[in-house]
Amino acid sequence: MGDLEGIRSRLGYLELLGIDALWLTPFYTSPMADHGYDVADPRDVDPVFGDLEAFDQLLADAHEHGLRVTIDLVPNHTSSEHEWFRAAVDSAAGSPERARYHFRPGRGPDGEEPPNNWTSVFGGPAWTRVPNADGTGGEWYLHLFSPEQPDLDWANPEVWADLEKTLRFWLDRGVDGFRIDVAHGMSKADGLPDARRLDVDLLRNAEDDPRFDQDGVHEIHRRIRAVLDEYPDRMAVGEVWVGDDERFARYVRADELHLGFNFRLVRAGFDAAEIRGAIEHALAAVAAVPAPPTWTLSNHDVSRPVTRYGGGELGTVRARALTLVELALPGVVYLYNGEELGLPDVDLPDAVLQDPVWERSGHTERGRDGCRVPVPWEDGGPGYGFTGGDPWLPMPPEYGRLTVADQLEDTGSTLSLVRRAIELRKTHDGFRGGDLEWFGAPEGCLAFRRAGTTLVCALNTSAEPVPLPPGELLLSSGPLAGDMLPPDTACWLE
Ligand code: GLC
Repeated sequence: MGDLEGIRSRLGYLELLGIDALWLTPFYTSPMADHGYDVADPRDVDPVFGDLEAFDQLLADAHEHGLRVTIDLVPNHTSSEHEWFRAAVDSAAGSPERARYHFRPGRGPDGEEPPNNWTSVFGGPAWTRVPNADGTGGEWYLHLFSPEQPDLDWANPEVWADLEKTLRFWLDRGVDGFRIDVAHGMSKADGLPDARRLDVDLLRNAEDDPRFDQDGVHEIHRRIRAVLDEYPDRMAVGEVWVGDDERFARYVRADELHLGFNFRLVRAGFDAAEIRGAIEHALAAVAAVPAPPTWTLSNHDVSRPVTRYGGGELGTVRARALTLVELALPGVVYLYNGEELGLPDVDLPDAVLQDPVWERSGHTERGRDGCRVPVPWEDGGPGYGFTGGDPWLPMPPEYGRLTVADQLEDTGSTLSLVRRAIELRKTHDGFRGGDLEWFGAPEGCLAFRRAGTTLVCALNTSAEPVPLPPGELLLSSGPLAGDMLPPDTACWLE
């Protein structure tokens, strides 16, 4: 499964990679209906991953390696196995136990219809009905994700009091920050009105969606921030699936989140105009606040870049090119484990799929397991050094060509490219400026530098080689053709 001790044993690798901080997805007590995002006890470690002592040890060792540790916080919902929810189900309609969640009577004859038309992000209705003590149909409860993840009612003061306890529990242990799950959730439109549009994909929220991005959420972020500010040097980054720049900006105001993931780069295809548009929007969204931009090409919820950009050799060279573009940008860059190895998604057999999306979509969407297959450390056995046994998702034979051990030895590997790029990003003056200046570039290409510096990043997404901008080559994502930049290639020039 992977565990805290396993991460601790690989801190040397992370230091070598050159990163500054880690974000760990949830390792709390959980029945694992959604990869640990269904939390039954937010202040304890699930035995699958270790215990609190193992966490403290990991934190202490990470700090010794100069790495900060950010952990996930899941304030929108709990697990259906959380003691609060179990008590709610066992209590009567209108009870204080039920008031921590959104329980409502159904519509239609005998309340057989859900209270409104909201859908779950994972497919199907966002409501599940619970039986009364006498077996008759009772109230419905709201779950924007799986039925095992009931949404908390943030109008209830007990909900905030408990989150504050969780924040302080981990801050007092010394964590450096939090990644806030569904940071645009939590607050729902007053009265839970029907949604006007229902054709919303996984994690792609429409505007005027009564389920997400409600104004009331900002009060919650202000409270979280006030707690963080009591501790020196702590940080919160939010998962903010909000497309509108102005509405996005609200999340990173001075008294709210420090950082917000902007997912525009994830959405952009391998096309210079789309990529430039994504970068410009992401910069514009934070410029007025101001707050630092936050970049991401992949995470545990989306297809890996190698696969998104076409798979195979083509996907690999394109993903390498985009990595150089991303690492040239101002602000904060998040890499997802295995991105530095150029891992593709794995086409998993039906029988091993675990993402609730697979079941909830009636087996029409395969879900996110393909991007969650563990990292191959070295050759040998089905676990490639991740485990001596069988890994929780099978690792394919092609991972044998992508191991950390092999890539560390190979100066042409994706890992070597990413290490060198991170090192330059940290040490070269060309990465100091905060503003971007764009250069004119041929059709299908882009070129920029940080204002006031001499380092240029150029990308060619067209089908033809183009002349390199003038300058001395610092790094390129693939071989150049004399003084030409080939298709599917990016470079840094001084
Ligand atoms: C976030 C997580 C995702 C999870 C969902 C529900 O989007 O990144 O993995 O399924 O929230 O908690």
